[in-house]
Amino acid sequence: MTAKIIDGNALSRLLRAEVTARVTALKARGITPGLAVVLVGDNAASQVYVRNKVKACEDTGMHSVLERWPATMTEEALLERVAALNNDAGIHGILVQLPLPAHIDAQKVIEAISPAKDVDGFHIASAGALMTGMPGFWPCTPYGCMKMLESIGYELKGKHAVVIGRSNIVGKPMALMLLQQNATVTICHSGTANLKAMTLQADVVVAAVGKRNVLTADMVKPGAVVIDVGMNRNDEGKLCGDVDFDGVKEVAGWITPVPGGVGPMTITMLMVNTLESAERLL
Ligand code: GUN
Repeated sequence: MTAKIIDGNALSRLLRAEVTARVTALKARGITPGLAVVLVGDNAASQVYVRNKVKACEDTGMHSVLERWPATMTEEALLERVAALNNDAGIHGILVQLPLPAHIDAQKVIEAISPAKDVDGFHIASAGALMTGMPGFWPCTPYGCMKMLESIGYELKGKHAVVIGRSNIVGKPMALMLLQQNATVTICHSGTANLKAMTLQADVVVAAVGKRNVLTADMVKPGAVVIDVGMNRNDEGKLCGDVDFDGVKEVAGWITPVPGGVGPMTITMLMVNTLESAERLL
């Protein structure tokens, strides 16, 4: 058996076209959705990510502001910038790129962002809203994974979903979103005694650990949907996920590739969140 591919680039193109149309409609009513991206320091991966976020804004007709600050920026100065952006009527979404330099308390900075502009969905108010099923911004990566499941018409009710990883930005919100769609959810992590015994029972596996080959063919139930959130480099320096793609694709029913899977969906959902933040002003 060879799994069908869930193409994150194709789905992103489709969703971004919808976003572009809604941005155009909003502009006609006098509102241009605006995203502020704040980068502190010169982390190489972060520079690529923020460039892609700004480019996605340009492509969908949104306004964007990229603030670059030196790694020596103080926490106080960053909190002041966040406060200014909270009060900037032209900005509907604020994203402070992580990681921040070690002398800055990242959680404190995230909590300083107005929940109404927290398009990353990292604020505790956003996390609480997701947990209780109240309206609020969902973190973009797990939100993108849900859109990928939706795109194949997958019914989660009654299914067993296994999430590998328990981070605040992917694993935990992913589990809550799957639960909201009535899946039975198991969260596995570094303390899980027998990961394979869990994943073999899964109709859906989401791998979000940040380590190569966390999920191999012998750990997957035939026909399962496999979503790979990982972004790693293999020995040849090539981008790869957490899943052994070549092996698992022979067992799974559906699989997301890396690159071209979850990655583009994350930025697409950031555009959706920013647009929806602006639409709330109507
Ligand atoms: N660093 C890596 N991914 C992300 C993300 O989605 N948002 C922010 N703010 N920082 C990140």
